[in-house]
Amino acid sequence: MDHDVIKPYSKEGEKKEQVQTMFDKLAPYYDFLNRLLTLRIDVVWRRNAIKMVSNPQVKDICDIATGTADLAIAMAKTMPLAQVTGVDIAVKMLEVGDKKIEAQGLSNRIKLEKGDSESLRFDDASFDLITSSFGVRNFQNLSGGLAEMFRVLRPGGKIMVLEFSRPRIFPIKQLFNIYFQYVLPFIGKITSKDPRAYKYLYESVQQFPDYERFSSVLQEVGFVKTSFKPLTFGICTVYLASKP
Ligand SMILES: C[S@@+](CC[C@H](N)C(=O)[O-])C[C@H]1O[C@@H](n2cnc3c(N)ncnc32)[C@H](O)[C@@H]1O
Repeated sequence: MDHDVIKPYSKEGEKKEQVQTMFDKLAPYYDFLNRLLTLRIDVVWRRNAIKMVSNPQVKDICDIATGTADLAIAMAKTMPLAQVTGVDIAVKMLEVGDKKIEAQGLSNRIKLEKGDSESLRFDDASFDLITSSFGVRNFQNLSGGLAEMFRVLRPGGKIMVLEFSRPRIFPIKQLFNIYFQYVLPFIGKITSKDPRAYKYLYESVQQFPDYERFSSVLQEVGFVKTSFKPLTFGICTVYLASKP
C-alpha cells in the first residue's frame, strides 16, 4: 500500500522532499512544540513504548526517522549494552539530536546519520531491534519503508513502531478532533511560523492506516506476532512485531 496522498505543502512533487523540507524548517522548534502541544505526554509515550521492547541483551538498535533523537537517547539509557544507530532524512533534525547526545555523554553509544528509510545502507540482518516513533506516517511509501526495516532486522528480532492513531471512544474522539484540527495547527503556526506543518499532522493522522490496518501492513511485509496497544485513549498506539 503506497502512503503518498497527504503531502505537507503541495499535491505536486515528491512527498519525501516536502517532508524533509518541513522537518528541516521545524527542527529548531520541534522539541519545544512536542512538549507544549502534548503537555509532555510524548515523553511518557516513548518511555512506555520502550518498556515493551526493553531487554538488557539487545546490542544493535536502529531508530528509523530518529529526528532529534529522543527515542534513541531514552533507549540507550534503558538498555546499557545497546549501540543505537539513528537514521533520518532531515539533517537539521539530526543536528539538534547530536547536540543532545553530546550533552548527555552518549556520543559513544548513539550515532546519527542521514538516510532514507526506504533504502537503508545496512546489510541484511544487522539489528536486534528496529524502532520508529512518529516516523512511519511520514513515509512516502509505507510498505517500502517497513520492508527495509524487515530486511535489516535479524531473524527473531523485534520492531516497535509508535504512531498517532485516531481515538474511537466518545468524547475523546470529538475532543481530539477539535484539538488536532484547530488548536494544534493554530499554536504550531504561531510558534514554528510554518502554517502547513501542523495541518499536515492532522491530515496525515486521518489518512494513516491505524490499529488493525497497520498490523495488516506489517503482516503483508512478512512480520509475525503482530500486536498493538493504544496509549492515552488511543491518541497514539504502540505496534510490535517480530521477524520469523
Ligand atoms: C514527527 S518526526 C519524529 C521524530 C522522532 N522519532 C520523535 O519521536 O520525535 C518524523 C521524522 O521522520 C523523518 N522522516 C520522514 N520520512 C523519512 C524517510 N523516508 N526516511 C528517514 N526519515 C524520515 C522526518 O525527517 C522527521 O524527522
